[in-house]
Amino acid sequence: MSWWRDAVIYQVYTRSFQDSNGDGIGDLEGVIQRLDYLAALGVDVIWLSPLHPGPNIDLGYDGTDYLQVAPEFGTLDVVDRLVTEAKRRGIRIMMDLVLDYTSTAHPWFVQARSSRTSPFYDWYIWRDGAPDQPPNDWTAFFSSGSAWTFNQPTRSWYLHYFTVDQPELNWANPHLRQAMHDVMRFWLSRGVAGFRLDVISFLSKPPLDQNLPDEFRSAPGRFYANGPELHAYLREIRAVLDEFPGTVALGEGFGIDLADAPHFVAPQRRELDLMFLFNLSALTFAETAEYRRPDLAQIREALERVDTILSGKNAWPTVFLGNHDVARMLNRFGNPEAPYRAASAKLLITLLLTLRGTPVIYQGDEIGMVNTRFDTIGEFRDIAVWNAWTGAGSDEAARNKVLSRARQVGRDTGRGAVRWTGDTRAGFTTGTPWIKVDPDLPGFSVAEQEDDDESPLRWTRRLSELRRASPALRSGSLDWLEAGPQILCFERGRDAERWRIILNWSDEPADCGNLLANSRAALSSLAREPGSSPALGPWEAVLVRL
Ligand code: BGC
Repeated sequence: MSWWRDAVIYQVYTRSFQDSNGDGIGDLEGVIQRLDYLAALGVDVIWLSPLHPGPNIDLGYDGTDYLQVAPEFGTLDVVDRLVTEAKRRGIRIMMDLVLDYTSTAHPWFVQARSSRTSPFYDWYIWRDGAPDQPPNDWTAFFSSGSAWTFNQPTRSWYLHYFTVDQPELNWANPHLRQAMHDVMRFWLSRGVAGFRLDVISFLSKPPLDQNLPDEFRSAPGRFYANGPELHAYLREIRAVLDEFPGTVALGEGFGIDLADAPHFVAPQRRELDLMFLFNLSALTFAETAEYRRPDLAQIREALERVDTILSGKNAWPTVFLGNHDVARMLNRFGNPEAPYRAASAKLLITLLLTLRGTPVIYQGDEIGMVNTRFDTIGEFRDIAVWNAWTGAGSDEAARNKVLSRARQVGRDTGRGAVRWTGDTRAGFTTGTPWIKVDPDLPGFSVAEQEDDDESPLRWTRRLSELRRASPALRSGSLDWLEAGPQILCFERGRDAERWRIILNWSDEPADCGNLLANSRAALSSLAREPGSSPALGPWEAVLVRL
């Protein structure tokens, strides 16, 4: 039962979705209030970012209790109600589960770090050593420092791939694995449909007695990923999911080489069902001070490679253009400037909903949200930005670089509240929002777009309806067509149904030759009769029924 192949997934970054009680933080009651909106959008699955309580140093990705809900989000009862209410509308709930590490404030770690004789000591990754000499030179994300921190009471070092507050768990310990399997059972018995498994690629560690090989120095994630026992751990995880038929596992494949991807998601492997792969996203991890949109040729190459590698093994791609860890898709792949914004939002949504694979829409992308504009460092909330800022010390040039990067590609840029209305707090909260809400252009809120037949929101709805009704768009073949430097063009076909999708990925009109010829019907994102001219307008998306 591979229902998830046909599904549209929608990521709710709960904290920024809808606040129901005026504390400035989105919550589960808020998600319930917006279920009708999501149902009308054609959403089949809601992926909820982590709900567990914790110190929120990494905003939910640092839990202290896997069986509870953070008070700012609600209670277990509200989760149950959400599951039930969503189900009534044909929507499943997918939870984000952080299996790779806990918060340092988790009782397991509190006990582990207090004494080597604690039964929890071995649930984390420790190495002996002098306090001034980390066991190896591995580095941590979100800082330029070591991935090891010395713990005085045990006189040993613990490993953390992310911040010092997120100690890595030791999956080689069978009791830990058992505990995590029970966590999964707890949520699956409550009716959730499966999990987005956070950095699942890191569960099994590479041998610790080595330094980072040079080739991985700029991308340590590729070294930390895919350790020797990973597949064994995933098969155990799959066995737990199989106790609840019809549930789904979507793994975050950070650091996984594309060539290895089928080993995780090919159906015969019985591991994951879906996996986020980052070769497209990686094109936009700008190292330079000024962000530049990747060339269309690179984008096409990235999309084509994933599809070819997966389809060769009968595996199914996961299509996404944004999430809570990157800047808005419009800023990275489209043109966020006023004249092009709505059109490029529609084009990107068209790509998401017509490519081969399960699309994942990040909240707000359906209305063409753009990056929040931050002025001062004080407005940022992301620990990654703060650690980089602290690391820059008092060096003015280094600080400016940190700020410039954070403004363009920092994670907070994409974490702004969903704009339900055009008012100053975006209809998100009646209180003080936890993160800056910018003034935005008129027309870029849900309420305004509901009334505008040509809006990105209405286009998204139209396309998700079309997709739902079309076996070719959901599960048909994918064939790429050559169509000039500004145009991305591909066809989807199944039985007698065939669609050609033509996307003008530029600010200029583009002649698309005879790609529009012989169409039985066509649909344009720019509300025009596509047969009327062989040229596509800037950022126009056309779907041609052949
Ligand atoms: C999550 C990030 C988080 C990171 C480390 C990622 O997979 O998506 O938001 O910061 O894990 O915690």
